[in-house]
Amino acid sequence: MSHFHAHDVLVIGSGAAGLSLALQLASHAKVAVLCKSELNEGATYWAQGGIAAVLHKNDSIDAHVSDTLNAGAQLCHEDAVRFTVEHSSASIDWLLAQGVQFSRFDNDSNELHLTREGGHSQRRIIHAADATGRAVSTTLSTKAKEHHNIEIFNRHVAIDLVVRDGRCHGAYVLNRDSGHVELFHARASVLATGGANKAYLYTSNPDGATGDGIAMAWRAGCRVANMEFNQFHPTCLYHPKAKSFLITEAIRGEGGKLLNAKGERFMQRYDERGELAPRDVVARAIDHEMKRLGSDCVYLDISHKSSEFLLEHFPTIKARCLELGIDISREAIPVVPAAHYTCGGVMVDQRGRSDVEGLYAIGETAFTGLHGANRLASNSLLECLVYGGAAAADINSRLDDLSAPLIAPPWDESMVTDSDEDVIISHNWDELRRFMWDYVGIVRTDKRLQRALNRAALLQQEIAEYYSNYKVSNDLLELRNLAMVAELIIRSAMQRKESRGLHYTLDYPATLPTAQDTVLVPDNYGHQSTS
Ligand code: FAD
Ligand code: SIN
Repeated sequence: MSHFHAHDVLVIGSGAAGLSLALQLASHAKVAVLCKSELNEGATYWAQGGIAAVLHKNDSIDAHVSDTLNAGAQLCHEDAVRFTVEHSSASIDWLLAQGVQFSRFDNDSNELHLTREGGHSQRRIIHAADATGRAVSTTLSTKAKEHHNIEIFNRHVAIDLVVRDGRCHGAYVLNRDSGHVELFHARASVLATGGANKAYLYTSNPDGATGDGIAMAWRAGCRVANMEFNQFHPTCLYHPKAKSFLITEAIRGEGGKLLNAKGERFMQRYDERGELAPRDVVARAIDHEMKRLGSDCVYLDISHKSSEFLLEHFPTIKARCLELGIDISREAIPVVPAAHYTCGGVMVDQRGRSDVEGLYAIGETAFTGLHGANRLASNSLLECLVYGGAAAADINSRLDDLSAPLIAPPWDESMVTDSDEDVIISHNWDELRRFMWDYVGIVRTDKRLQRALNRAALLQQEIAEYYSNYKVSNDLLELRNLAMVAELIIRSAMQRKESRGLHYTLDYPATLPTAQDTVLVPDNYGHQSTS
């Protein structure tokens, strides 16, 4: 097996962002796509609600822009919002052309069914029942597998980028089957590795969401922004046997009511929009009700809808709940908030270009300015598609000008041995996720953040020592990246001396009059010379 690979473009990640970019480049370029495990494993596959887009005759670009700006608590970059929303209907057309089957109004009609979610003033969420991500991910994966110019590398984990003289030349990648580190050279490299929600004990995300792209970009000298804005989805299933199972916001969009442990509706007491207030408001209200009543969860009740309606609109949720003994047509669903979406990320421009020449970031890994202090529901798949397309167009337009990559030295394993103490990894992983949940969660204070920062520093020391003495493994790489990203989240949270959107601190409950991004700058910013 070769330890050296050369392609025009290296795409790290096979979610909606990575695959839409790869498919739009492949007619002109040789593309390598890496997945940590297999295709259809990222957050994209698990998306339920849908994709926000201006498709209805009563809707408008201005209305979608305005809803996004409102949810983002004045921190969105209006140019990024407008750019994304203006490209929304073309992105849906592109998905339809790839063959994605979205829900229609009824069997005879060709009209696309649009649902509602919190913060949207219109029905504008196009969906495939309650398994939109599955429809998008499997369709794009099949297309990518069929394409002669796209080579997919399953079980290949990018470790770090190769950066020389301020330019990215590819990446060092662990082949999980052989255990060896391989070199992938490319004219352009794209980080599409998704978010970092595994930094928290409870999350809606699949296992690989460990912020690898953000950590790699930071180490390579890229700025990251707004990492304090971690979105907690208000309603994940609360059940001992249900790991990371989301209950879509579309249930509230279709009339689902939130009840506390006493069976009382409570959302109206917190916000006049009730259950359809933006996620930060709903998650904080639930957190407050749970603490007030000392309960482990609240309840989401959609049992007033008929069984047929629930089967048509929410077949996945109905079936999963039934497996666990919960009949959603007769009883309320126990739910809790969980870490769901990383609003901040690698700073990029409207073409997806990062601070390092030849390196792009797209999807949940990137910070484009779209989400501000709180992402509006179903805007993230849209962002993956719009920026995936924009980055593909940019790479396409300058592929010939991007010089052939420098040949980097092979990975040096001569000084490391096999680990004999894997318990250190699992212990540190648990500790990290717990202190992030307890100290850097829905409600923060200066004291809690300082405690978390001290622990993150200690963990990073231990991990660095382990990293330099033992052979790399997927678990070690994930832990190393999570600890790095946890530090970025904590440092960003400490810099923000106000409460805004998803960042709520008891020490600074007011919102400052001027909204500013939190930009973290690495020491090697502007003079990157090593990998
Ligand atoms: P992902 O889809 O997460 O893909 C990341 C890819 O990167 C994976 O292939 C992974 O293997 C790979 N990868 C990661 N690290 C490495 C590495 N080091 N080396 C190689 N490969 C790597 N958004 C909406 O807009 N609408 C919704 O309805 C919606 N519902 C959601 C429901 C759930 C349960 C979840 C978890 C999220 C939901 N979101 C939704 C958010 C949305 O799904 C994600 O933001 C989006 O799918 C991210 O896509 P992506 O392409 O950036 O990353
Ligand atoms: C959901 O279906 O509630 C998730 C939507 C999103 O995260 O955008």
